[in-house]
Amino acid sequence: MRIVAVLNHKGGVGKTTFTGCTAQALALSGFRICVIDNDSQHNLSSMLGVGVQKPSIRDVYCSDEASAPKTLLQAIRKTEVAGLHLITAEKQLCDSDIRDTALLGQTMELCGLERYYDIILIDNAPGLDRVQGSAIRAAHEIFVPTELRQFAIDGLVEMEETINERYPDGAKISRVIPNFFKNTKRQRAFIAALHTMFPGKVTKTAIAVDPVFDEVVTDHKILFLHRLYSNGAAYYLKIIHELFNLDEETVWEQVMEKRTERMRQEARRRFYAQRERNRSHGQ
Ligand SMILES: Nc1ncnc2c1ncn2[C@@H]1O[C@H](COP(=O)(O)OP(=O)(O)O)[C@@H](O)[C@H]1O
Ligand SMILES: [Mg+2]
Repeated sequence: MRIVAVLNHKGGVGKTTFTGCTAQALALSGFRICVIDNDSQHNLSSMLGVGVQKPSIRDVYCSDEASAPKTLLQAIRKTEVAGLHLITAEKQLCDSDIRDTALLGQTMELCGLERYYDIILIDNAPGLDRVQGSAIRAAHEIFVPTELRQFAIDGLVEMEETINERYPDGAKISRVIPNFFKNTKRQRAFIAALHTMFPGKVTKTAIAVDPVFDEVVTDHKILFLHRLYSNGAAYYLKIIHELFNLDEETVWEQVMEKRTERMRQEARRRFYAQRERNRSHGQ
């Protein structure tokens, strides 16, 4: 099992979109995935159509060591995608809820989550405090989506130093994922700078700007089921190939199969609903 914290001290760089879309694609490809919404804004819980549910990740943090594993297991919810589970967040989640940043990692281990999941992704709020610290200490590695602007890129090296100073036993940055790519000369120069700062860690694929992301986030749609032929979905297949060593074509075929199956189910549901309506109207 791999535990990945998706982190950037800046907001609006695509952490939640990345976590949600990647998790959906991996689950549609047959992996057992759990995502943890570790952000009081609970955008990931909304994106995956679950909303806020109790117990939430905050209840895990607020539990004592003995009861935390039970709370964590109770907090796991199913989503619309088979094989994709979610632990929701709630708006009260804050730093003072966390007595010990080691609790989340210890609790996940005690629950034996590796028996149930192949990959756990933890989406984080901007900042680098104790809530993010809990994710850093629970994870094996850190993925950093970033926008391609000077200040954003400058801040990443400082962010890495802070992570290493504050949480020396925690996960390290393993991948940096350029987002909002428009293929301008300036942005290509920023990507070159990223390669110098994080050698071997920057993904070859930069995720292009595509309005489809706003659409799937706002309408709680599943990118790979509703907009499989979009540019956005094509970039994610490439990213998944790079980050999880999965063959793009295999992922595509498995996703296609699930998509066809769902369309068939939907058609069948509509057919029976229509037949029921016709019968009740005496036709
Ligand atoms: N590649 C992209 N192209 C266009 N819009 C994007 C892209 N990635 C993310 N977005 C949009 O940008 C906004 C911020 O993304 P979000 O994932 O919420 O960022 P964060 O979690 O880092 O705060 C959202 O409205 C999302 O739909
Ligand atoms: Mg977010």
